[in-house]
Amino acid sequence: MYEKILESIKFIKSKTNYEPKVGIILGSGLGSLANEITDYIEIDYKDIPNFPISTVKGHDGKLIFGKIGDTEVMAMKGRIHFYEGYPMKEVTYPIYVMRMFGIEKLILSNAAGGINTSFQDGTLMIIKDHINFFGTNPLIGKNDDRFGSRFPDMTEIYSKNFINIAKEKAKNLNIKYSEGVYLGTTGPSYETASEIKAFSLMGGDAVGMSTVPEAIVAKYLGMEILGISCITNMATGIATKPHSHQSVMEIAKKVEKDFCIWIKTIVEDLD
Ligand code: HPA
Repeated sequence: MYEKILESIKFIKSKTNYEPKVGIILGSGLGSLANEITDYIEIDYKDIPNFPISTVKGHDGKLIFGKIGDTEVMAMKGRIHFYEGYPMKEVTYPIYVMRMFGIEKLILSNAAGGINTSFQDGTLMIIKDHINFFGTNPLIGKNDDRFGSRFPDMTEIYSKNFINIAKEKAKNLNIKYSEGVYLGTTGPSYETASEIKAFSLMGGDAVGMSTVPEAIVAKYLGMEILGISCITNMATGIATKPHSHQSVMEIAKKVEKDFCIWIKTIVEDLD
């Protein structure tokens, strides 16, 4: 894997001189943050040796290098999901590439269903912790000590410091946010009402099909992580109508403006 990553990086370095320390992964319907990136270049995942390709609508499959304010960034427009059939090592491959490219701070965003009944469609939730309900772990397999330790600590997987910056910026921008625990599950089927009841008892505030594998690997690799969920629908049993990917995308589009300005303001001040 190490050599594969070096090969991917060699290709990327042949396309850009940027040396970003900040990485961003854009969730479903939240891709327009990419429009805030200036002086950018785009690289299609499919052109990068060994890079997996996203197959989901609303997930473009582009790596974008550029600037937000004066801060250089590397953004992934389109992520790889476990439900697409990729093994966990492929799902999290871009995180390894980001880290070895020099990324130190990672912003993970996603669309999620609201379990906490104080939430509503369009709530922006800072992820304070997560529950891995994928039934597997992206670090299973032989450990390469060049990446990280066999038993990485997950005590403060989402950085308190990063969360405080996000809160301060939200306050200044007058953006409302909530805070909660993200429960990650494989999908692709949405949950049943009974599953949501169980997840609520387990301590989940939001449920989604991504982010957890990426966060585990990013923490393992020593990155500082901020996670933001956009609640695009209340979860099954709380919502009064069935879910559709279409309406998830529509709600994401509605809060995208707040989401974009928030992340932009956070990133501008990171360097
Ligand atoms: N469940 C799981 N993933 C999701 C949901 C949901 O209700 N909404 C957006 N992503």
